[in-house]
Amino acid sequence: MTERIFRLYPPPFEAVPLRGLYLGLELHRRGTPERPFVYANFLASLDGRIALEDDSGAPQLPKSLTTPDDFRLFLELECQADCLITHGGYLRSLAAGRLGNILHIGAHPVGRDLVAWRQAAGLPPQPAVVIASASLDFPLPASLRKHGQACFIATGRRADPDKVARWRDRGCEVLFAGPDRQVEGEALTRRLGELGYRTLYLIAGPQMLDTMVRAGRLALLFQTISHQLLGGEAFRTMVPGPLLGAAGQLRLESLYYDPAPPAAVGQWFAQFAAGTDR
Ligand SMILES: NC(=O)c1ccc[n+]([C@@H]2O[C@H](COP(=O)([O-])OP(=O)(O)OC[C@H]3O[C@@H](n4cnc5c(N)ncnc54)[C@H](OP(=O)(O)O)[C@@H]3O)[C@@H](O)[C@H]2O)c1
Repeated sequence: MTERIFRLYPPPFEAVPLRGLYLGLELHRRGTPERPFVYANFLASLDGRIALEDDSGAPQLPKSLTTPDDFRLFLELECQADCLITHGGYLRSLAAGRLGNILHIGAHPVGRDLVAWRQAAGLPPQPAVVIASASLDFPLPASLRKHGQACFIATGRRADPDKVARWRDRGCEVLFAGPDRQVEGEALTRRLGELGYRTLYLIAGPQMLDTMVRAGRLALLFQTISHQLLGGEAFRTMVPGPLLGAAGQLRLESLYYDPAPPAAVGQWFAQFAAGTDR
């Protein structure tokens, strides 16, 4: 992991330690149950790509975008949440071994210290996990129970009632957050606030980001911009829905430059305020 990176904004230009960079933001203090604080993190190339398609046409996160530095900051953001929002697709990929497990604090060598940070901050050892799904077809990882994490399934009111009943029979709490099959940003945020959650970290894909931004519920967007042009004929980016207009206008809060070792590409770590926090 890189020791020092450079702050480009706000001034003054300065070399700062990478480790701890986002812990100082104290995101866990920003939300209330009345208005939970929602933040997200995305990793993109200079040409705006967040995923490439494999031979079967399925989207995959390109390995060349991920770095230990970016992952450390991802974990620093994660450890400040009292609730993580993931989705059914991630749990299917996790079960198939296509993606690693990012649902638990302190489970990775680069983030072992973060459990102690949480304890010192007065947070429970692990955040709750919400799984957004319209299909309700996904396996629940045994690791959630092992870490004692509260777990909720979020879906729309028109989800298959038999599947809803099956999840409830298994002891899972199913939250309805939207009138159709899809979860909607406003309804989900409000419901989680009613359950007492204050700080929601969106670790889902572009569709959930889309719904949170469109609902004006995203407060902060963290974006790692890797200094490479990926190309690729199918273009996959952070917001798959129609034109956003004013809801998509953000304000830069901070920008750091990580030059990376020789032969690797550099990256910017940007933080943008969104929605009513802009
Ligand atoms: N570069 C990055 O930072 C980044 C971040 C995230 C993802 N990605 C990449 O982007 C590509 C696509 O992302 P993805 O597959 O993770 O996510 P996605 O296409 O946004 O969503 C996939 C699944 O999430 C559930 N879902 C999403 N929005 C929902 C809603 N509003 N209501 C109910 N369910 C909802 C659905 O699950 P059900 O099918 O169970 O209904 C859906 O199939 C992947 O290649 C991924 O690796 C990149």
